Amino acid sequence: MIIANTIEEVRAQVREWRKEGLTIGLVPTMGYLHEGHASLVDKAVTECDRVVASDFVNPTQFGPGEDLEAYPRDFERDCALLEAHGCDMVFHPEVDEMYPQGGGTTDTFIEILSEMPKQLCGVTRPIHFRGVCTVVGKLFNIVTPDKAFFGQKDAQQLAIIKHMVRDLNFGIEIIGCPIVREEDGLAISSRNTYLNPEERKAALTLSQSVKLAKDMVAGGERDSKTVLEAMRAHIEAEPLARIDYVSAVDGITMLPVSELSDGVLVAMAVYIGKTRLIDNFTVGE
Ligand code: PAF
Repeated sequence: MIIANTIEEVRAQVREWRKEGLTIGLVPTMGYLHEGHASLVDKAVTECDRVVASDFVNPTQFGPGEDLEAYPRDFERDCALLEAHGCDMVFHPEVDEMYPQGGGTTDTFIEILSEMPKQLCGVTRPIHFRGVCTVVGKLFNIVTPDKAFFGQKDAQQLAIIKHMVRDLNFGIEIIGCPIVREEDGLAISSRNTYLNPEERKAALTLSQSVKLAKDMVAGGERDSKTVLEAMRAHIEAEPLARIDYVSAVDGITMLPVSELSDGVLVAMAVYIGKTRLIDNFTVGE
């Protein structure tokens, strides 16, 4: 597997692959890789001739007081996982390589102006999706992939990236991949490493409330207020949990809905101790 630290190295390799007529898949990550990321690489390997993963903790998507400095990093372990799953190149730039202006920021952002990034995670993380769109747009320009692969766990991010790609005519196919869960149901996340054993147990309240909601919907309940109230009651019964949001929104616009019809996203963010975790499901999937 090629390890590229500079944009120029990536571009040179991509040019070679293009000369050979090969297709390229991109798996953008912030590192500290787990089975969820591995599933994205596996999918990319089946769909593209060459797979590039990026491994970059993007400063512009962290707000003041968030976990940018504490965000877990282990590049060696990441490389081992990527290589084992058939990744061809990892792009691991320094902050100044991605943000040449310096200071891990830029004057030029990609920002969706509709309500979409202001809902759900956008309420407590107002600059988050602007940073995500900007770095993903940069990665698209650097790697110029045919397809890019994102996890459904970050459902709002996935919807926003699809919207950005359409609005800015990137011409890249965006593929959403299913949430990967631990055996007991917890959605796999790099942030799960922050949890102590007691919190790890408490964190199950998220996947349990997803299951509760799915069961209610399968039983014919379509009123979002009724389902969301049951989910909230379940989570509030866990003393270590504090709800950020539990919402039902249109799967494309991210605007709240009252009826749980197919395609509606039921999503939550919950603090377990100091760790903010997310989970979701889409009705009808
Ligand atoms: O989902 C993530 O890990 C990040 O938001 C992404 C897409 C790699 C952009 O930094």
